[in-house]
Amino acid sequence: MINNKISEIIKARKSIFPSQFNGKEIDKETIMELLKNANTAPSHKLTQPWFFKVFSRSSKTRLAKELIKQNTKKEDKLLLKFQKSSHIICICMRRDKTKSIPEWEEIAATAMAVQNIWLSCVDSKIGGYWSTPKGIEKLNKFLNLKKNEKCLGLFYVGIYELIKKRKLTRKNIETETEWFD
Ligand SMILES: Cc1cc2nc3c(=O)[nH]c(=O)nc-3n(C[C@H](O)[C@H](O)[C@H](O)COP(=O)(O)O)c2cc1C
Repeated sequence: MINNKISEIIKARKSIFPSQFNGKEIDKETIMELLKNANTAPSHKLTQPWFFKVFSRSSKTRLAKELIKQNTKKEDKLLLKFQKSSHIICICMRRDKTKSIPEWEEIAATAMAVQNIWLSCVDSKIGGYWSTPKGIEKLNKFLNLKKNEKCLGLFYVGIYELIKKRKLTRKNIETETEWFD
């Protein structure tokens, strides 16, 4: 039997979008707790390819303006999303210099780190979602990324009071599973 509590947490995880955030700020220690949980994700050869660039306060506006400048997002909508969010975490991935691990494995490991952040938000008033704006690679210079580094998206984090529940129908995993005895 698997642990029911963990199953409940996994099932309760959901995307909470900035329109539902109240604009209040989360303390730095809490954000650090999320990132420490991210850091426990598995990775092949323990390369730990993930790293993060965290924007809050006035730096959020600088990031928003850069996204607008690079034409990846519409101005008014984006500024409002950023204002309502507490922090914007840029999800970054670094390949090891010898490229001993295929890129997809490093991306997969980084995604697992993000899932840890997401799961850590369950049962709190902190919500978030992973956004992958088109042309995110145009941010490389602004984010000061090196050749072997990539930004895989933004994780918007904020505080919410009430959530508007979205009805999402998930596919039936039984039809996606083939058994061999
Ligand atoms: C890699 C990845 C990229 C995503 N990019 C976006 C995005 O650009 N815009 C968006 O609205 N949601 C994005 N999402 C969130 C998904 O829309 C969301 O996870 C999906 O609708 C399921 O909802 P749930 O997270 O509440 O279960 C992304 C999720 C993942 C895992």
